[in-house]
Amino acid sequence: MKFTAVAVLVSCVPSLGFALVGNDWGFYDAPSDGLNDITFPFNIANAPHVSGFYFAQQFGFYNVENISYTGLQPRPDSSGNSIVHAAFSSFEGGTTTNHPNCYSGADNGPGVSCAVDIIGNYNHTYNLVVENTNGTTWRGTLVDTVTSNSTVVGEWTLPQEAGKIINGQGGFVEYYTWNGQPSHTCDSLPFTEATFYNPTSKTTGASEGYTYNIVEYGDCIGKAGYSATEVSEGYDIKVGF
Ligand SMILES: *[C@@H]1O[C@H](CO)[C@@H](O)[C@H](O)[C@H]1NC(C)=O
Ligand SMILES: *[C@@H]1O[C@H](CO)[C@@H](O)[C@H](O)[C@H]1NC(C)=O
Ligand SMILES: *[C@@H]1O[C@H](CO)[C@@H](O)[C@H](O)[C@H]1NC(C)=O
Ligand SMILES: *[C@@H]1O[C@H](CO)[C@@H](O)[C@H](O)[C@H]1NC(C)=O
Repeated sequence: MKFTAVAVLVSCVPSLGFALVGNDWGFYDAPSDGLNDITFPFNIANAPHVSGFYFAQQFGFYNVENISYTGLQPRPDSSGNSIVHAAFSSFEGGTTTNHPNCYSGADNGPGVSCAVDIIGNYNHTYNLVVENTNGTTWRGTLVDTVTSNSTVVGEWTLPQEAGKIINGQGGFVEYYTWNGQPSHTCDSLPFTEATFYNPTSKTTGASEGYTYNIVEYGDCIGKAGYSATEVSEGYDIKVGF
């Protein structure tokens, strides 16, 4: 799924796919030419260890038409270990990569998709760090905030005209199992829960970040067990049964 690009303070509108919940994020202040890095923290401690949900934040770049995503997906346990799947994708044509976790194409369109599965602990909050490494090359890194251990999710290079990250975009909770399955009953949605924490940035001139405007989307509004609760530095979102 993908939301169309939005300006700061404007709600996201999902264009396709099964986004159940959307949010906006931003920084109160940011340099006018954009951000060199953003950290998006997520906690999925209460998410069942099954595939199907994607918890993601989107971000756009100056002079680039299509947005990018990063986020987490629960996975089934393997040999008694908890598995955390992290993704980092660009939907812009002309994006290149030679990172082993990445391949060309994103959701059947142009771009580059990168992903990694790690043995993790769902009780730990994970940061997805998006940072410029050189020129128009950007790296996504998964960081366990309890152990500080990190794993690179992937790295890609945008077309040369690309600028820095634009302040303000959206995020979503998607049940991708329903993609391509337009007929579904809302009460068959399995339970999941994730906390989307406010983004941070080390970029000079970037202030505190915020998450706001959590809204339900799709054809199961009011029927998906949705709730969003403000917590310290973010929102805890629940859907399903
Ligand atoms: C943006 O994404 C759409 C949908 O995948 C694609 O058709 C279009 O070519 C992309 N634009 C660029 C500049 O890559
Ligand atoms: C996660 O936290 C729960 C509740 O505090 C606890 O019961 C469980 O053992 C923890 N799991 C891990 C893998 O640390
Ligand atoms: C950084 O990017 C420039 C082109 O934008 C390239 O010439 C240079 O080799 C790159 N440096 C490194 C360390 O990759
Ligand atoms: C942490 O370290 C282990 C072993 O070095 C590695 O397998 C794991 O994927 C790392 N990453 C994270 C984010 O925990």
